[in-house]
Amino acid sequence: MDELELLSDDEQLIMPDILTREQFMKFVEKSSKFEELMMMYRCAIREVQTKLEILNDEFKTKRQRNPIDTIRSRIKAPMSIYEKLRRRGYPVSIQSIADNLNDVAGIRVVCPFISDIYDVAKMLISQDDIEVMEVKDYIKNPKPNGYRSLHYVIIIPIFLSSGKEYMKVEVQIRTIAMNFWASLEHQMHYKQFENDEMPEIVNQLTDCAESIYHTDVRMQEIREDIHKMNL
Ligand code: GTP
Ligand code: MG
Repeated sequence: MDELELLSDDEQLIMPDILTREQFMKFVEKSSKFEELMMMYRCAIREVQTKLEILNDEFKTKRQRNPIDTIRSRIKAPMSIYEKLRRRGYPVSIQSIADNLNDVAGIRVVCPFISDIYDVAKMLISQDDIEVMEVKDYIKNPKPNGYRSLHYVIIIPIFLSSGKEYMKVEVQIRTIAMNFWASLEHQMHYKQFENDEMPEIVNQLTDCAESIYHTDVRMQEIREDIHKMNL
């Protein structure tokens, strides 16, 4: 029998630090504790997603348009969990995943306009079962590469048969245009470049991020003008 099948409940919580990637993958396949933790993150995502869908419905009824274009969610893959723990020098254990990683559960909310981002954020975080653990406003303070988005780490309760558990969820809110930019910029990280190609691509992307931001601002102004004309 495989030694991992013999793990007791307590042992399931601790993964020896020397585990290689392959051993880790084998461990998580067998560990019911790991599966349980991932199930809890999936539940937390559903709770947040439902809240966002309700807010979108209500906003639509009141203002005749949706402030949310799309909602995407994901659970961090086991391999990425392992690599992030290692990269940051955290212990590789179930407890460490829950304690040290804020983005195992991730939700990306894509909005038409910049004002929608702040409206959606405000409506979400003002709900009394949500606690904000961290805010990063990369729209007011863009990254040097031009990245813009509003990031929150929130804590939300989920209700299981054993009681209430508080889970962390990373919420990224950005415009359709910012999302378009971030998707392309993200791809760059997985490509190999010649030494002189890299800075050129980076500069071009930063340039695009600025035009995208200005276009986002102008589109919002135009929408407001149209709205005023209709009144
Ligand atoms: P990570 O270890 O990457 O999660 O960073 P962090 O914990 O310091 O958090 P931060 O809020 O800076 O970034 C969280 C997430 O936002 C990242 O995992 C990406 O999904 C996204 N993000 C942040 N910066 C960039 C960027 O420059 N480009 C793109 N495409 N996405 C970014
Ligand atoms: Mg992340």
